[in-house]
Amino acid sequence: MSDRFPMPPYPQGWYVVAHSAEIPVGQVVPLRRFGQELVAYRGESGEVRVMDAHCPHLGANIGYGGMVRGDDIVCPFHHWRFDRDGRNVDIPYRDTFNRRAQLRAWPVDESNGTVMVWLGHEDEQPTWQVPRLKELDDEAYLPPIPGQSYTIRTHVQEIIENVVDMAHFRYIHGVKGFGALEVVEDGPMLRATAAITFGTPRGLVDGYIENEVWGLGVNFNRPVGLIPTCAIATQTPIEDGLVDFRYTFIVPRKPGTDEPSNASKSFMKDYHFQIEQDIPVWEHKIYRESPKLARGEGAVADLRRWASQFYAKADA
Ligand code: FES
Ligand SMILES: [Fe+2]
Repeated sequence: MSDRFPMPPYPQGWYVVAHSAEIPVGQVVPLRRFGQELVAYRGESGEVRVMDAHCPHLGANIGYGGMVRGDDIVCPFHHWRFDRDGRNVDIPYRDTFNRRAQLRAWPVDESNGTVMVWLGHEDEQPTWQVPRLKELDDEAYLPPIPGQSYTIRTHVQEIIENVVDMAHFRYIHGVKGFGALEVVEDGPMLRATAAITFGTPRGLVDGYIENEVWGLGVNFNRPVGLIPTCAIATQTPIEDGLVDFRYTFIVPRKPGTDEPSNASKSFMKDYHFQIEQDIPVWEHKIYRESPKLARGEGAVADLRRWASQFYAKADA
């Protein structure tokens, strides 16, 4: 645990490790996540696999120079081959293989234009799933559009705390007003709907900012009442105190084209701008365990109680 945050750095849940588009068929990608070295690759069937990166033979990092063969991966150092479950299936200079040589294969879920892995407590298998967005089955929407990614000095829970922080929408993001906050919890899901007054070229518009978060890694962010768009904001621990933050857009197309509509384009531009407003705060703030709050700001305590389910009992 770092000095900066009292929470353990790696809460349970699904975490995005890459945009789908970053891992084409045959591509091998080295990753550092959860304080560990991992390797992701897309096999010839199109399936993405994520494994521990260091070879059980003599320890090469397979992310640097590894090769995809079918749905298997081959280590660059002595060409040992591992199947989709990480089992050694070939040693090219022997007529047998080593049954005990195994790479750990992580549970992977590729959806919504992202590649997610499951981080469980002590090898626990997934106990819940992140839903696939219904917009992706609607012809009016484009396929997911990858946005920018950032490396930020923070903790994943700090980013999620933003969703119940009504006042920051005004003072950081410049919305014209804020009203009530409604929070619904359902197991690993928390949906915060914030009543917001947006300033638009047409004048003031009353609407909502809806944040539907799944664990501490994935946030579906929708401005309700403006245009029907979704930004998937995701945060993944790289190591203690360092987070990979990235976003993906699901937006309507300009009818009859493969281009975003003009409203979608301005949503994406504006969203990017807003993220850049949040980042300096996230990087430099401290975590107050007992914050002094204004009236009506109790939701931060509720969110922290909800978030505690993702920390192992022994961690909490
Ligand atoms: S270190 Fe990987 S095959 Fe030898
Ligand atoms: Fe924010």
